Amino acid sequence: MSKVRIGVMVSGGGTNLQALIDAEKEGKIPDGTIVLTLSDNEKAYALTRAENAGIKTYVVSKKQYDRKEFEKKATEILEDNGIELIVLAGFMRILGKEFIKKYENRIINVHPSLIPSFCGEGYYGIKVHEAALGYGVKVSGATVHYVNEIPDGGKIIKQKAVEVREGDTPETLQKRIMEQAEWIILPEAAEQVCREIRKKKGE
Ligand code: GAR
Repeated sequence: MSKVRIGVMVSGGGTNLQALIDAEKEGKIPDGTIVLTLSDNEKAYALTRAENAGIKTYVVSKKQYDRKEFEKKATEILEDNGIELIVLAGFMRILGKEFIKKYENRIINVHPSLIPSFCGEGYYGIKVHEAALGYGVKVSGATVHYVNEIPDGGKIIKQKAVEVREGDTPETLQKRIMEQAEWIILPEAAEQVCREIRKKKGE
């Protein structure tokens, strides 16, 4: 009866990581435990959040390592720590086929739109909200999905819609989507997947 060991991969501010940390503390992820945070950006504030929560941190810098090297180093770290589920929480690098295959159905990602709108290569962070406002949609939201070889193309686990308001800027829309969708559905999806993994293990 062991909890699923979670590794969270980040690149930036880490508010989604914080949501996961808080959810675990509040007992909302009873089937999983966050073991480490891995960042491809040494300046990511997410690292400070992890340290403050007593979670191990690793940096494999995007500046220093190309994708292949990054994935090799990341795999070593994940294996050394017995990671069973990878959560991409604001992780901005597209992962290669080999890495994804190795962790099939064991990588989930949060994306700040209702997939299949405003997703895929080139749609990340604030750009997603710029595109949504540019199109003029009245509803956007967030999606948590499994990661496969198609960017933002894996099976959807959870989605939540959020209204777009008159006068929204990409920043105000981003904030509302984080608060009303991402920070809620990411921990929920992480728990759901951990529960499924444990079930498969026969626990
Ligand atoms: C979040 O909005 C997340 O959904 C998005 O970047 C932001 C990271 O914020 N991720 C992507 O766009 C991935 N394609 P955070 O570092 O505060 O969690």
